Amino acid sequence: RPGADAWVPHTADVAQLQGAVQGCRGCELWRAATQAVFGEGSAPASLMLVGEQPGDREDREGEPFVGPAGRVLAEALEEAGIARDEVYLTNAVKHFRFEERGKRRIHRRPDVGNITACRPWLEAEFAAVQPEVIVCLGATAARAVLGRPVKIGEERGHPIDGAQAPVVVTIHPSAILRVRDAAERSEARAGLVADLRRARSVVR
Ligand code: URA
Ligand code: SF4
Repeated sequence: RPGADAWVPHTADVAQLQGAVQGCRGCELWRAATQAVFGEGSAPASLMLVGEQPGDREDREGEPFVGPAGRVLAEALEEAGIARDEVYLTNAVKHFRFEERGKRRIHRRPDVGNITACRPWLEAEFAAVQPEVIVCLGATAARAVLGRPVKIGEERGHPIDGAQAPVVVTIHPSAILRVRDAAERSEARAGLVADLRRARSVVR
């Protein structure tokens, strides 16, 4: 696993980075995926949100957070009073990692090797976006941004020193979709919204 370094152009232009990521061979994930899914949104932006990796829908459509988790996230952002033009949205890993089961493609977590290999793209995005705060959605994003294992339950919802900007970690929106009990689910949603509000309060 050589990592993405050799494929990342020296530019802070998101459109150029987005074009170049399609050629990345920094780890094995490009082989099975439909395409790379790069970040999107304002650049520069005050908030940079980092997810895990594209899901099934994102892999097909080429855009981050357009599937079910994206809908949960969009609602939470709105509830937190965060406008879309304040935000740049990306993922720790740019290609979808999955397992085929019949016709279904089952999500697999990216491993530490994938996270490390893909990190140069995230660094290029830090430079392009120059966020005032970075929000990590889930443990994979936190690991990618902070470079160490993070227990979300222990560290969520308050700013942590990061190399680029203060970092707020929170749950991944998919975690909310997995909660079966309606009361627990709305509590989980409220937790995500509260963490997003806290992140935004770092900005202004
Ligand atoms: N989950 C993520 O982490 N990122 C996406 O883009 C979609 C779902
Ligand atoms: Fe490159 Fe990241 Fe895709 Fe791996 S997941 S091939 S490092 S863009």
